Amino acid sequence: MKKENIILQYLKESKDYLSGEELSRRLGISRSAIWKNINSLRESGYVIESVTNRGYRILNSSDALTPTEIQSGLSTEAFGQTVSVFAEIDSTNEEAKRQAHKGAPHGAVFVAEQQNGGKGRLGRPWQSPPKSGLWFTVLLRPDAAPPQVSNLTLLAGLAVSRAIHSLTGCDAKIKWPNDIVIGSKKVCGILTEMTAEIDRVHFAVVGIGVNVNDEGFAEELKAKATSLRLETGAPVSRVLLLRQILKEFEALYQEYFVQGSSRWLQAYKESCVSLNRTVGATRGHEKIIGTAVDITGGGELVVQTGDGERIQINSGEVVVQGIYGQTPEA
Ligand code: BTN
Repeated sequence: MKKENIILQYLKESKDYLSGEELSRRLGISRSAIWKNINSLRESGYVIESVTNRGYRILNSSDALTPTEIQSGLSTEAFGQTVSVFAEIDSTNEEAKRQAHKGAPHGAVFVAEQQNGGKGRLGRPWQSPPKSGLWFTVLLRPDAAPPQVSNLTLLAGLAVSRAIHSLTGCDAKIKWPNDIVIGSKKVCGILTEMTAEIDRVHFAVVGIGVNVNDEGFAEELKAKATSLRLETGAPVSRVLLLRQILKEFEALYQEYFVQGSSRWLQAYKESCVSLNRTVGATRGHEKIIGTAVDITGGGELVVQTGDGERIQINSGEVVVQGIYGQTPEA
């Protein structure tokens, strides 16, 4: 085990301050080496107090986004078995792609406390301030053709909604294809990108951003955005949420990509708020208004227009009546 993880364990076990001298004796390294390791733990997000003549004490061991915290108690085979945590990065999706080209394994997870170039769907920026949110990306190497991968994004949405529900009890639903909403407000967005040839996927990166502990939103977002803390009235552990998402996501991934089952689709439909509502979408230059009536096995939304035509939509922006305070317009 790395020295800093041993120090971490000692700090966690200790009810009182642990002196640098005591730690250096226990680990058999110098006090300045202890100090270096303490600083490295701090860079990973741990808040460690140091008081002259008393020593070190850890203040926030439970919710620090660190590989050790994330991986202890993580019951997955591949998802999250490799974790990289960044205090600040451009975008975890970008980092996942860079590392994918260098051979990072299937299931590798990239987490950031803060993103300075966070990306949303349709080329939009994604605000990713520190502390309140959970910003991460899972790198996947499915043995699949590109069309199958569009369902990956729906599976991720279902996994997040299940994880939020099991951890907080909130009734998290999915706005097709993969926004997670509570009531009519967005709590999570997902951005999937892939690198592929015509008939073979090299890799896909699934980027997930959850509003976890925000205590409020800027005026222009208030009507559309919520956080788990606002919904539950209490802080929520980002570490526990991340572990739960990875567990649910891996189970669904296995079900669909390994066992070839489509059982998830029924569960998805039951959680999807877009169905049986009036929706507005665009297909090319054409504007479509109708009722969302179904989701196909390929993950497309089926919209039935006023004249009975059924149109399948596979991408783009869909306005759903009553969600984010929006009304579809012709
Ligand atoms: C959306 O709803 O528009 C998708 C938002 C996706 C945001 C996440 S945060 C982690 C990952 N890194 C990014 O740059 N984007 C995704």
